[in-house]
Amino acid sequence: MRQKLVAGNWKMHGSRTFTRSLLAELAAAFPDGAPCDIAVCPPYPYLPEAVGCAAGSPILVGAQDISAEDEGAFTGEVSGGMLADLGCRFAIVGHSERRSLHGESDELVARKFGAAQRHGLVPILCVGESLEEREAERTEAVVGRQLKAVLDSAGIEAFSHAVIAYEPIWAIGTGRTASPEQAQAVHAFIRGLLRSENATISDFVKVLYGGSVKAANAADIFAMPDVDGGLVGGASLESAGFAGICRAAG
Ligand code: 13P
Repeated sequence: MRQKLVAGNWKMHGSRTFTRSLLAELAAAFPDGAPCDIAVCPPYPYLPEAVGCAAGSPILVGAQDISAEDEGAFTGEVSGGMLADLGCRFAIVGHSERRSLHGESDELVARKFGAAQRHGLVPILCVGESLEEREAERTEAVVGRQLKAVLDSAGIEAFSHAVIAYEPIWAIGTGRTASPEQAQAVHAFIRGLLRSENATISDFVKVLYGGSVKAANAADIFAMPDVDGGLVGGASLESAGFAGICRAAG
């Protein structure tokens, strides 16, 4: 039985005050321990604040991105070593907003995945298709290609220290979530692809669903056998709603 994980991706939202209050409210929501693994991924400047506020609580902290490089003349980039030094435990790689707005290729995402692991961070590898790709029945081709790029570069063993997040682009921030059955079908496809390389690792790896997850729809999605929690955007910015999603994963 895989322990579920609910991770909040704040995207470019927040402030120091917001970080302090959200973390305090979340910690207070689970006085008797967390119902599942919980992580928050604030913007880079608020990571130290988040790590400090989460100390002593069950909440872990992750970054929304990571450089593929370890050090050097890469203005504006933040390395895995820096994130680990701050106390981060996760790094999101290959979010669709990075792929589409910043032109990140499968190859770059695979290098970021490797960079996270080099520094002891657990990469949360995002994969997912656009609406156009789904309608052209290319979901498995796209998700398979994104996953294979990382498998080819990192190897199957790397997935024993990684999380995958299936985030259909058409469900992100749209209020239109994948149905539990649609999510399950892609999650089963992802796990099957890994199983062909190593059954033990494929049974172990967490596959999260992301895209308009809310407290009201989380339980139905999380009840699917291959859904191991959620990567939550908008609904992670409000403590009661996010806590409700975490409870749905309990
Ligand atoms: P929403 O939950 O706002 O749809 O965002 C999902 C997402 O992109 C999380 O990484």
